[in-house]
Amino acid sequence: MDAPEISVIPKPLLLERGSGEFRFGSHTPVTLRNGLPELGPEGYRLTVDADGVTFEADTPAAVFHAEQTLRQLLPPAALREAGGPDTWPLPHVQIIDAPRFRWRGVLLDVARHFLPKREVLRFLDLMALHKLNVLHWHLTEDQGWRVEIKRYPRLTEVGSWRRETLGDGRPHGGFYTQDDIREIVAYAAERHITVVPEIDVPGHSTAAIAAYPELGNQDVPAAAGPREVWTRFGIATTVLNVEDATVAFYQNVMDEICDLFPGDYICLGGDECPKEEWKASARAQQRKAELGLSTEEDLQAWFLHQISAHVAAKGRKLLGWDEILEGALFPGTVVSSWRGTEGAVEAARRGHDTLTSPCTWVYFDYRQSDAPGEPGAPWAAPTTLERAYAFEPVPEDMPSDLASHVIGSEATLWSEYMPSPRVVDYQAWPRLCAFSETVWSGAERDYDEFRGRLVKHLERLDALGVEYRPLEGPRPWQEQPAARWRAEEAE
Ligand code: ACM
Repeated sequence: MDAPEISVIPKPLLLERGSGEFRFGSHTPVTLRNGLPELGPEGYRLTVDADGVTFEADTPAAVFHAEQTLRQLLPPAALREAGGPDTWPLPHVQIIDAPRFRWRGVLLDVARHFLPKREVLRFLDLMALHKLNVLHWHLTEDQGWRVEIKRYPRLTEVGSWRRETLGDGRPHGGFYTQDDIREIVAYAAERHITVVPEIDVPGHSTAAIAAYPELGNQDVPAAAGPREVWTRFGIATTVLNVEDATVAFYQNVMDEICDLFPGDYICLGGDECPKEEWKASARAQQRKAELGLSTEEDLQAWFLHQISAHVAAKGRKLLGWDEILEGALFPGTVVSSWRGTEGAVEAARRGHDTLTSPCTWVYFDYRQSDAPGEPGAPWAAPTTLERAYAFEPVPEDMPSDLASHVIGSEATLWSEYMPSPRVVDYQAWPRLCAFSETVWSGAERDYDEFRGRLVKHLERLDALGVEYRPLEGPRPWQEQPAARWRAEEAE
């Protein structure tokens, strides 16, 4: 078998191909050298020549990235689990590589639809292959609470199951035990991936309120919002109340979350918190007055500050969506800008680090084309592979002296339209291949050149059993998730 074409994704900084090839087997030693200057903590040099394979890398993460590149230099069949020859051809090559951004994230929403543990582990493998290094794990929602909290067992006993979804009459649910979480976090760490948990407050909390009604605004007459684990999608008006007891509840939750997730960052969400209930609640209005606050936005900022201060006292940093800019920001909070990139510019102006996640570029729950039958959110314009590849993490209008506040970006996989792991594969790949290059590789991009490499790379995804969207169009067998929601929204 001849050495294959070289088609590494994400594209390395520098790649020079030699003329020979080396036979590589599972017992072939790799020479490791230290002392590589100026490529940063994740940079590496990889050489294949007649003597074999050499990595120059100064950190375990850099060695790991070199290994992922090596896997992509082998023929695609080498990525199959079993059944190959004893040795594989490797092209002589020299690669020098380092990432553009340190935060190369993917948000995985396991709350709207639960994703079994084995699938989360598999997703981490695929992230690692693409040098994506942050799993932003969206664990709580109106539609489900997915992480076991020992102090509050009803969060999962009640909050992890909903009666049905959009009138389908079938219960849906599931959750991760604390042992599952520890396993997933350790598995990610072995792949140099940090897991950032998101406990979304004070909106998106109906599942918690269903489990513990005292967390809700119980004095709101004839509440328009749901009080059971929500069976529909959209933005619920149901939100947490602003009692000290509710703050204490979430501080206790955060104690367990911080024990489970050793990474630097904890995400508190803060997005899409409708203010109707607080406006209608005599008790919330009384709290607002007691606290000397003038608006409901101030109430939200106050609530987030109480939780943030508790988490910060444990030495952790906070992450929140750009709605948190509506109030005073807790010191050091990283702002993820999703409604565009204005939030990123504003956060940087206020001296905060920021992640860019603009929905019209990197929300991969959106459709990949407007072809009939294409899965994904029907109410948004499609995010084609070409568009995903054209994403630029630093906003055009970011003042250059503030650009260093952009520490990276996140693509998102919200799961209203992803009822099964097969659909997650379909929505994620190959758009995450494109995204990985926007955050790892340089700012220069040539879509046709990328597409050429991708055609080879898809053979690797085939070998790994990934059910990506083919380049030529939607697969006719693809499930049509949440078809009823689609129909309702079209009305
Ligand atoms: C979001 O999409 N609500 C962050």
